[in-house]
Amino acid sequence: APRPTIAVIGGDGIGPEVVAEGVKVLKAAAGADAFEYVAYDLGAERWQRTGEVLPDSVLAELAGVDAIILGAVGAAPGSTAIPSGLLERGLLLKLRFAFDHYVNLRPSKLYPGVVTPLSDAVVARGPIDFTVVREGTEGLYAGVGGSLARGTSAEVANEVSVNTARGVERVVRDAFERAMRRRKKVTLVHKHNVLVNAGGLWNRIFTEIAAQYPDVTTDYLHVDATMIMLVQDPQRFDVIVTDNLFGDIITDLAAAVTGGIGLAASANINPTGAFPSMFEPVHGSAPDIAGQGIADPTATISSMALLLDHLGRPAEAAAIERAVDADVAQRGTAARSTSQIGDAIAARVAG
Ligand code: NAD
Ligand code: IPM
Ligand code: MN
Repeated sequence: APRPTIAVIGGDGIGPEVVAEGVKVLKAAAGADAFEYVAYDLGAERWQRTGEVLPDSVLAELAGVDAIILGAVGAAPGSTAIPSGLLERGLLLKLRFAFDHYVNLRPSKLYPGVVTPLSDAVVARGPIDFTVVREGTEGLYAGVGGSLARGTSAEVANEVSVNTARGVERVVRDAFERAMRRRKKVTLVHKHNVLVNAGGLWNRIFTEIAAQYPDVTTDYLHVDATMIMLVQDPQRFDVIVTDNLFGDIITDLAAAVTGGIGLAASANINPTGAFPSMFEPVHGSAPDIAGQGIADPTATISSMALLLDHLGRPAEAAAIERAVDADVAQRGTAARSTSQIGDAIAARVAG
């Protein structure tokens, strides 16, 4: 049988640095020959050289692979060399939308031994282990909107949040299914006190689906209060389900309180299997530390465990998780390079 094919998009900034370590650990876990790796040169450099962000021919090729690994794309915030959002929308969001990645899965766990900004009293309350199921194909990311009278004092600029019953239903159901395999609690996060249309739809569908899962405890939080709870009572969360933009914001804070953005993994999943799923760290291209070999590759490495799980290789996924747990537990604050961290985790996986 042909080996599964994995497309590798390093991208910009620290993207290629952390992806190299992710692939290193993936090979240690699954065997060097388990997959065929195909590198795709996409990102800022390609655009500057050719004007291409994601040619249709490449998109068509990617549709046929078994999984995609992405580092990150994008320039420094404030840089004018590349229009803001050109690569993020033209590459990353294009892939999420084209491949219908409606489940953007972002787990957060406070590993023992990890430095956290949470207070000792909060940490002492018990294990912190939750996952955010972020809708990935709708909401304010849909690209619906425009501006009127641009550049005048009468300018009106709009982005419309698109929420469909089908889109909300499928991601909420996924969250309940995940909760059944975890601690059986789902929290809906929205802002239905203000966003009456979208919030009303999410709330109604959430309530309908909850009725089909009597074993699952549910609750609801407004997104602003969620920020408080993530800092003061993160143990209350098991599965959080939310829309695209709220999920983006929640998961950066979730990362920060559970050891930092360098640890936060994510998967963009198409549960139907109609298109390949994509695995990437939550973080971006970190232009402030790019090229120095100091980026933490752990988030990308943990994303490889999500990839293996998705490809039906749970034992190998668990081996990566155990190796990451062990590395993170003993790392303290000692400075290690990107490749030293990758080597250490790969060695634990192999040993
Ligand atoms: P960022 O996540 O790149 O960086 C935020 C901060 O976290 C920086 O101080 C950075 O040094 C630090 N950081 C990030 N990853 C780290 C790691 N692995 N190890 C250690 N420190 C790490 O967010 P930003 O600065 O807002 O965005 C930079 C660019 O990346 C922007 O162009 C943005 O659009 C893009 N971006 C891309 C993706 C993606 O492709 N998936 C995700 C987020 C942001
Ligand atoms: C993320 C990123 C992206 C998002 C950007 C770069 C489009 O912040 O993956 O969290 O907003 O989804
Ligand atoms: Mn983000």
